[in-house]
Amino acid sequence: MAFLEIENLHKSFGANTALHHFDMKIERGEFITFLGPSGCGKTTVLRMIAGFENPTRGVIRLDGRDVTHLRTRQRKVGMVFQSYALFPNMTVADNIGFGLRVARRPQDEIRKRVEEMLELIKLPNVGERYPWQLSGGQQQRVALARALAGKPQVLLLDEPLSALDAKIRISLRQDIRALQRELGITSIFVTHDQEEALSISDRIVVMNEGRVEQVGTSSEIYNYPRTRFVASFVGTLNILSGHVVDPASGTMAVDGQELVTTQQLAPDDAGKKRLLALRPEAIVLEAPAAGRNTLAATVEEVSFLGAVVRIRARVKDAVISLDVFNDPNRRLPERGQPVALGFSHENLLVLEEGAA
Ligand SMILES: Nc1ncnc2c1ncn2[C@@H]1O[C@H](COP(=O)(O)OP(=O)(O)OP(=O)(O)O)[C@@H](O)[C@H]1O
Ligand SMILES: [Mg+2]
Repeated sequence: MAFLEIENLHKSFGANTALHHFDMKIERGEFITFLGPSGCGKTTVLRMIAGFENPTRGVIRLDGRDVTHLRTRQRKVGMVFQSYALFPNMTVADNIGFGLRVARRPQDEIRKRVEEMLELIKLPNVGERYPWQLSGGQQQRVALARALAGKPQVLLLDEPLSALDAKIRISLRQDIRALQRELGITSIFVTHDQEEALSISDRIVVMNEGRVEQVGTSSEIYNYPRTRFVASFVGTLNILSGHVVDPASGTMAVDGQELVTTQQLAPDDAGKKRLLALRPEAIVLEAPAAGRNTLAATVEEVSFLGAVVRIRARVKDAVISLDVFNDPNRRLPERGQPVALGFSHENLLVLEEGAA
């Protein structure tokens, strides 16, 4: 049995459905990220796990116990919010110890635990300060310490880094991940930043309009997106339309040119239209080679970006972007020049039907 099980969770606000049939099994110690655009239901799921919101339908089980309708205080869940949400009139130490005081733990225990937490977040000397005397990044560390002080079974982080500037964001996300590993605490992290999600997660749940689009490791989500939404939300992607020629050999046709995919096609797919996806970094300019795909195209634009040069080439109705590393000894193609775009069979992705 998984540590945290969410079964068929559904949430409506009046006539509005924020979440449709959300299913997820999370293992003990896993670091899961919910990734998706604004309004897709990420916070709604977290709030139901924390007990701030009642599901319309569905079950949430934590370590084998049905917690769906328990109060927040009866589930061992710690939460960090986007805005630091520290109590402004309390010192850092009082903020961190707040939950323990509410639970009427003995003074000594609280003092000890607060000290431990300050050590853990590497801010041992700020206990007597007030939140306004800390930087944004430090305040968010304190919020993390407050969430962890009660030894929760699950840590929920709702866009904890989005109010911070880019540099602090990267260093704090690495610190959060390191801390999470050290404590082995099961965590759910919410973000709409794909790079953030790819860099820290054991698994990513890509959400769109209250539904799960795909669940997988960073590499699965990035390299093998199943739908157009996932493909374009997680990175830059070229989309081509083609049709299936021979499902058995994985042969597709785009603009009269045959291409091969290693993805499984169903026998009755023959003749069907499908969307194909190709990542810019999977394409190289090369002469046709056996065992590889080649697509004839015409260069429309060459932009020098520094370390990479981005080339845009047209294949009938589609424009394909590809990146080549800058090399002063290489001659770049010119606008209007015919080129051969080469890529492996594995890199030709066929998106699911209905994912247009
Ligand atoms: N209390 C509420 N009453 C009515 N509608 C709500 C309520 N809370 C959320 N919603 C709606 O539910 C949907 C999902 O909202 P949610 O806050 O979960 O999105 P999100 O993915 O966290 O977005 P963001 O990235 O902007 O934080 C939205 O359409 C939102 O307007
Ligand atoms: Mg939100």
